[in-house]
Amino acid sequence: MTRTVYVNGHYLPEHEATVSIFDRGFLMADGVYEVTSVLDGKLIDFDGHCVRLGRSLSELDMTNPHTDAEWLAIFREVVARNSIVDGMIYLQVTRGNPGDRDFAYPPADLPPTVVLFSQNKPGLADSPAAKTGWKVISVPDMRWGRRDIKTTQLLYPSMAKMMAKAAHVDDSWFVEDGMVTEGTSNNAYIVKGNRIITRALSHDILHGITRAAVLRFASEAQMEVEERNFSIAEAQDADEAFITSASAFVMPVVEIDGKAIGTGAVGKTVPRLREIYLDEMRKAAI
Ligand code: PDD
Repeated sequence: MTRTVYVNGHYLPEHEATVSIFDRGFLMADGVYEVTSVLDGKLIDFDGHCVRLGRSLSELDMTNPHTDAEWLAIFREVVARNSIVDGMIYLQVTRGNPGDRDFAYPPADLPPTVVLFSQNKPGLADSPAAKTGWKVISVPDMRWGRRDIKTTQLLYPSMAKMMAKAAHVDDSWFVEDGMVTEGTSNNAYIVKGNRIITRALSHDILHGITRAAVLRFASEAQMEVEERNFSIAEAQDADEAFITSASAFVMPVVEIDGKAIGTGAVGKTVPRLREIYLDEMRKAAI
């Protein structure tokens, strides 16, 4: 089926959708994005993604082109026109097309470029990988210093994904000054007893929307949450490990740099967190 995508107010077949070669997103990676999952035809944690979109735009002095209600209507239209039951909605907002290349930002009243597209992923929440867990390797974190802004400059995360593929594992965890920051496109955690440990929010990591929900559910389930740095050695020695993201939800990690975590099998805490997360988020989906 040909996808229907959204470009600047128009719903178009994907092969008819175009963006200028002078678009700041293309020339400068001057744009931000959001990834929102859809389960049972409904948007998961839409409000959280909307808030983070507004923050990313404002950190880059870009005007939010839509109200939350307008965004919701556009998202829902993309879901409906593509008959998405389970899948992802990708949103990109760039600083627009100034008509030429220049390092300086164009005037603030230049309209941004707004693109949305969907990916159909039947059975998204039933991923077989959640039963076996991911294997990861560690790689140096060579990204820029404002990882809290969800920009479209994803080259180094792509390189790190290729390093993982070359090592025949599922993903890479970034390490800076001896401490784990996050995964290529997810937040990283370890579990020790009843405690969940994850890096605190700062400019060093993306402020995951799934992270916020999972930490809230963990506290409500009487688990302790400790927001602090941890090393690869501490992670290898933990009882369990996992990652979170809008596309993988809560995914166990069973091996780091060739060393099994615990028994090397998926533990008890992470599947429980995954189940709570999916149950609660399905209930709250809109
Ligand atoms: N990535 N950290 C990074 C670097 C990310 O790119 C992402 C999301 C996350 C998790 O954030 P959230 O829980 O809000 O999805 C953490 C998306 C899924 C992507 O780029 O495809």
